[in-house]
This record gives sequence, structure tokens and C-alpha cells, in this order.
Amino acid sequence: MWGACKVKVHDSLATTSITLRRYLRLGATMAKSKFEYVRDFEADDTCLAHCWVVVRLDGRNFHRFAEKHNFAKPNDSRALQLMTKCAQTVMEELEDIVIAYGQSDEYSFVFKRKTNWFKRRASKFMTHVASQFASSYVFYWRDYFEDQPLLYPPGFDGRVVVYPSNQTLKDYLSWRQADCHINNLYNTVFWALIQQSGLTPVQAQGRLQGTLAADKNEILFSEFNINYNNEPLMYRKGTVLIWQKVDEVITKEIKLPTEMEGKKMAVTRARTKPVPLHCDIIGDAFWKEHPEILDEDS
Ligand code: GTP
Ligand code: MG
Repeated sequence: MWGACKVKVHDSLATTSITLRRYLRLGATMAKSKFEYVRDFEADDTCLAHCWVVVRLDGRNFHRFAEKHNFAKPNDSRALQLMTKCAQTVMEELEDIVIAYGQSDEYSFVFKRKTNWFKRRASKFMTHVASQFASSYVFYWRDYFEDQPLLYPPGFDGRVVVYPSNQTLKDYLSWRQADCHINNLYNTVFWALIQQSGLTPVQAQGRLQGTLAADKNEILFSEFNINYNNEPLMYRKGTVLIWQKVDEVITKEIKLPTEMEGKKMAVTRARTKPVPLHCDIIGDAFWKEHPEILDEDS
């Protein structure tokens, strides 16, 4: 009905403004049907004002997904880089994300305190992040897994948590990075015991039961000649994405007035992009080096 009315409004433009106003009034009343009240059943999920909004995604049943797609154990650099590519896409396509942190099959995205994107509705944040991330995972799969076909569509769950202060936000990110460290240290020894010492998973698990971090470091060093601190930073620290200015080289066709055909030339231009870092974010050094991230008006 509203569509038909809109067409009539168009026709009436050619006639009088009185007719136009009447049609517009009619349209406004017709848009509200007797069913309109069902809107009141929608829950208000506005995120508390001035708080950091964090969306964390996690791969659904990635234990199985990793097995089926022959991920290297315990870390597959292709899989981790694909996750980061998807997170960069999320940051570039969506608005107001100031920092992201990822490890294993999860990524956290932090929206700036004063964002008003989609009126701060949690469901909008979560669903946009999850769908953009999941479609990117499929879209870019081939770029990272050339010889490994994607066998079935992966899924990601999402949750929204709001943090009221800079300290709670930093503690949240520290928690995720500490989790990365604990899991990675465990997995590095676990898989060394299986792959290099020939233990079964049950035996390896038994061997590691009750061990502390120092014990695991010692097993790695004495039995496998591995200094854990020399393992790749991406595995030990995860990936932080922050906005940084980078010089981008693009090819541009430049045509001089005297020339018929344009010349292709390499041109450098500065762009702000989400850049991956594999550094510590638990200590103060990172936050002192990048004060703009937690800036009140960031
Ligand atoms: P839900 O998240 O509860 O659906 O289960 P999940 O199987 O995804 O488990 P969880 O998110 O707790 O853990 C992620 C799992 O993904 C790990 O336990 C690994 O099995 C797998 N995974 C993630 N990254 C890698 C990787 O680089 N290599 C390998 N081999 N496995 C990985
Ligand atoms: Mg998972």
C-alpha cells in the first residue's frame, strides 16, 4: 500500500503542493498498521553509555574444523593469518573499532567508548562483526589454504561485554593474552611429547598433569632442545591490530597533456590501516607507546 502511495506522490508533484501534502499525510498514517505494537516486544539492548564495547567471536567447534582441514599442530600459521585478515576486514568495513586482539579461533574487537554506531545496540554490533568475519573467512580462504579445499562452512559465536573503565578493558585484553600464553605453552609441550617422543595423547596428558609453567619450560628445553622464548611471537602473544599510518604503493595511470596514452606509474600514498603486532599488551609499555587507543575521545 505504501509503495503505491509513493508512486502517487510522484505523480502529484506535477500537480499541486496541497495534493502532495495530503498524500504524504496519508502515507504516514498508512505506515502504522495495527500490527505495529509488536515492536514493543523488542528488548532494549543499548550498551551502557561511555563504556568500552567488546565483541568477542569464537570459532564453532574448531577442534573438528582444524582436524578436517589438516591444520598444523599446535599452531597453523595459515589459519592464524586468515583469522587476522578477517579481523582487518571487520575493522575496515565496520565503524569505530579502535583495537582488536586474536589468538587461536577467537578475536575480540573493541569499539570506542563514545561510539554511537547503530545507537550502541549490542545485537547490531555482534551480528555485524560475526557475519562480516564469517563471510571474510570463506572469501579469503583460498588465499591462505591454496592446496586445502574448504570442506564445509565455518561458524562463529559472538558475545558483547561492556567494560566501564580503561583498567577493566586492559585487564580484559590481558586475560585473553594470558590465556593465549597458557594454552600455547601447554600445547607446545603436549604436541612435542606426541610428535617427537611418540607418546599417545592420554600419556602426554598424564605427563603434564600438575606441572607448572617452569616444569613445562624445562621439559621443552631438556627433552626437545626448545627454548620456549624463541618460539614465534605470533604463537606466544597472539595478534594485536591497531590503526597505523602505512605507505601504500599503488599503480596509477598518469596522462601528460602531450601524450596520447597514459603511463603506468607507481605512486606512494599514506593510508591508515589495521596493522598486526605480536607484542605484549599486559605490561604498561604498549599502552604508553600508543596512548591514543585509550584516549577519552578516541
Ligand atoms: P567451541 O568454541 O566450544 O565451539 O569449541 P572449539 O572446538 O572451537 O574449542 P575452543 O574454541 O575452546 O578451542 C579452539 C580449538 O580450535 C582448539 O582447541 C584447537 O583444537 C583448534 N585450533 C585453533 N587454532 C588451531 C591451530 O592453529 N592448529 C590446530 N591444529 N588447531 C587449532
Ligand atoms: Mg571455538
